[in-house]
Amino acid sequence: MRDIKIAPSLLAADWGQLAAEIKRVEQADLLHLDVMDGHFVPNISFGPNFVKTVRRLSKLPLSVHLMITKPYDFIQAFVEAGADELSFHVEAEGDHWRTISAIREAGLKAGIALSPATGVESIAELIPILDFVLVMTVSPGFGGQAFIPEMLDKIKRLRAAAGDLPIAVDGGVTPELLRPLAEAGVDIAVAGSAIFQEEEIDWQRWRLNCE
Ligand code: DX5
Ligand code: ZN
Repeated sequence: MRDIKIAPSLLAADWGQLAAEIKRVEQADLLHLDVMDGHFVPNISFGPNFVKTVRRLSKLPLSVHLMITKPYDFIQAFVEAGADELSFHVEAEGDHWRTISAIREAGLKAGIALSPATGVESIAELIPILDFVLVMTVSPGFGGQAFIPEMLDKIKRLRAAAGDLPIAVDGGVTPELLRPLAEAGVDIAVAGSAIFQEEEIDWQRWRLNCE
């Protein structure tokens, strides 16, 4: 069975003790940072300065998930902030070929995110130049929502269409879902509330299920 990398989403962390929260997840594989502009999604989170702070506090790769209307305009700011990966939505504005190319030319991994209502065929032409795909398993904008089970089938279809391209899932992920997600072809699981709401994070639960 394929192993799944775990990416804690800092949206669910207690920002009042950010350094301690980041320390609590240092065994993870990468950190996920949700950038929301109050326009693409009905919520505002944080921007490049927050990413820069996290960069100082962690050695893990930083995967920045842009839920913003104009991703191209902000690539440089997140490059300078120290991001290692940048994903943006296929539903966002711009020439996605150009945006992906610019992210990769800056030396970062480029990913495209699909909201639940968006079909897999929307990214068909982009697959050859992508480093990963982020399948949203909740509607983007808020942490703590329930996983949408219909997305498992979509992930299987994406796996069939995307060859070896890494697939990440984001939204409502719990340890119990890791096995079905691995079976569907997922490589990376983003998890916010299910990780940070635990007083003592039981990493075995996030690892054993997919052995
Ligand atoms: C939702 C964000 C997710 C979210 C995940 O818009 O993209 O990354 O923080 O949080 P949970 O795991 O609580 O659904
Ligand atoms: Zn996210």
